[in-house]
Amino acid sequence: MSRLFIGSLGVRTAKSLMGDVVNGYNFCVMVQSSAASSSSSASEAKTDQRLIWINGQLVPRSEAKVSVFDHGFLYGDGVFEGIRIYNGRIFKLRSHLVRLMESAERIHLDPKLSIDEIEDLTRKTVAANHLQDGYIRLILSRGEGTLGLNPFSCPEPGVICIADSIRLYPEEMYRDGMKVIVASRPRIPVECLDPSVKSLNYLNNILAKCEALSQGLYEAIMLNTKGEVAEGTGDNIFIVKDGVISTPAPDSGFLLGITRKFVIDTVAPACGQTVLEQTLRLEDLYSADEIFLTGTAAEVIGASKIGDRVIGNGKVGPMTQQFTKTFREMVANDASED
Ligand SMILES: Cc1ncc(COP(=O)(O)O)c(C=O)c1O
Repeated sequence: MSRLFIGSLGVRTAKSLMGDVVNGYNFCVMVQSSAASSSSSASEAKTDQRLIWINGQLVPRSEAKVSVFDHGFLYGDGVFEGIRIYNGRIFKLRSHLVRLMESAERIHLDPKLSIDEIEDLTRKTVAANHLQDGYIRLILSRGEGTLGLNPFSCPEPGVICIADSIRLYPEEMYRDGMKVIVASRPRIPVECLDPSVKSLNYLNNILAKCEALSQGLYEAIMLNTKGEVAEGTGDNIFIVKDGVISTPAPDSGFLLGITRKFVIDTVAPACGQTVLEQTLRLEDLYSADEIFLTGTAAEVIGASKIGDRVIGNGKVGPMTQQFTKTFREMVANDASED
């Protein structure tokens, strides 16, 4: 599978993209597993010291396995969260847990644990791995069942928590801006599978990501079926035009990002700004003075080019710089866990 994928991207492109991207985490793992296997044993030994929470216990990474009959694996039937740890604090933990529980409810998945119990296992996993800064992946899967689709054949949900270190986009990208593309395939419409449910089924995003990677880039902007701007494959989008900051309104159909909300409610006011939620179209992106993306993994990062269109003067603009700086200072000093 990984060889096929590398083949379609071209080995040079694939190699040049590995190792310095976090939203492409799965991609990095795939490439590393085939291209760098000879040097992997030392790092595997190191990563096996990581303890993973899986269905009630902490086990070494090599023992953290799910059943091939788990519907999370068979059908992408489950929900998840990605969460940052900054300076020993779990940023927006409660908001992530609330979104996780809401996503679970919306796919009729009963985690059989309370929100407080999931918080507790998350904190235990972070503590067991002695992480001051890092990234948490919380997963609720439908659990083991029969081969058919019927979710009610799965009596016990799977509950998994991984806490690990995180690799950022290269720092130059925050300084110089990220080049992105517009995905050719639209975001799945709300009426079909509401993107505000953070489900394990990310194929729509992954195919858009593949398009970006095949052009040597990291991120793709996804439009909805009406041509409105929705989001990136793993982040939300903001534009700045004549000093006004806007972001798509929820009606356009995207994941209601926790970083997006933090930027609107906390970072923008701290910078003396407000953010307008409104329908945005591709022309708005092309004519923007600045564009930036927000997400747990990406944090706040400017986009300098979309396809062959240069955004603004092709540099990361002053508003984006101010937002990135303010965001970083806030989470480093006192990342709120609310
Ligand atoms: C599709 C998508 N949109 C937006 C985001 C940003 O959301 P958040 O800020 O909660 O990480 C993510 C990241 O999880 C995502 O996967």
